[in-house]
Amino acid sequence: MQIPSKVYPYRLPYMGSKQNIAYSLMLAILQKKPKAKYFFDIFGGGAAMSLMAKQFGLKVFYTEKNAGIVNLLNFLKDNKIPDDWIRWISREEFKECLGKDDPFSAFVSVVWSFGNNRQAYLFGKDIEEPKRLAFEVIVNQDEQALEDLNKMLGCKLRMPKGADVHTRRLQFTRQAKKIGGNRAIAIERMELADKLALTQSLTQMECCSRLQQLEYLQQLEYLQQLEYPYDEVIIYCDPPYRGTAEYTDNDFNPKEFDEWVRKLKYDCFISEYDAPFEQIASFNKLALLNNSKTERTTVAEKLYYHKAEVK
Ligand SMILES: C[S@@+](CC[C@H](N)C(=O)[O-])C[C@H]1O[C@@H](n2cnc3c(N)ncnc32)[C@H](O)[C@@H]1O
Repeated sequence: MQIPSKVYPYRLPYMGSKQNIAYSLMLAILQKKPKAKYFFDIFGGGAAMSLMAKQFGLKVFYTEKNAGIVNLLNFLKDNKIPDDWIRWISREEFKECLGKDDPFSAFVSVVWSFGNNRQAYLFGKDIEEPKRLAFEVIVNQDEQALEDLNKMLGCKLRMPKGADVHTRRLQFTRQAKKIGGNRAIAIERMELADKLALTQSLTQMECCSRLQQLEYLQQLEYLQQLEYPYDEVIIYCDPPYRGTAEYTDNDFNPKEFDEWVRKLKYDCFISEYDAPFEQIASFNKLALLNNSKTERTTVAEKLYYHKAEVK
């Protein structure tokens, strides 16, 4: 296995994304499975691990229960993001998209939700309008929006001139920091603009050999029938965390999942905070405190390993 010297954290913005630790996770997994050729990402989500495994030269099989996310990734595989997706989405339009499975609705639900939770609109009502104006300035370099924003905040912000959205976002944030106070809060941290650019970078990327909507329980039979050599298969699971009701899919049953892992004929790697398997690595991550939209704390997310019984 050749370790790539340069990788890029491609992914859809996603709640619980492995974007910051995907490379380290891959290294830890490959220490156990140096001969790996096939990577099964069973709870694929925003595909951070699939897209990292691909950069390690593995053949990737992505599955995920949420149909909208799978449809969106499939769409991005073959299409450029249509220009009219890159526009301001109001709270009302956002609500209309929730729960729908077409690629555009899935795109809106992840990119325009708070913490990418696909539930709550990204901005509080009080800052919605200045955020909208800042969006038009950064994304569309709209002069009228800049004028309106300056009037609203009583300041003299200049049009960011960078060639791409990311550069303009940084230029605008620097100006916002200088004015400081409550006025700045309305326009700083427009990561939204970056998220749009990021999603665009996924366009037409051949990420997976199989990209499928599938419940993990339904995959056992398929995985058991594979005829790849034992050493060459990695099964990676990043399930909804035990005891959190954050996901909309909170019908997930951890005990049933543990049983499923034990039945597999290939070794399985599991990202969790606490699971009844051998812990082989630990990563510190910033997470939101319970019931807080802003306060953060450090938590240790672990990588667990289950060695299959070779029959
Ligand atoms: C922690 S997230 C995965 C994040 C992903 N690793 C990433 O980096 O973006 C857990 C995912 O499991 C999916 N999921 C929940 N229950 C499932 C099930 N029964 N079968 C398959 N996927 C499921 C959720 O929709 C969610 O996308």
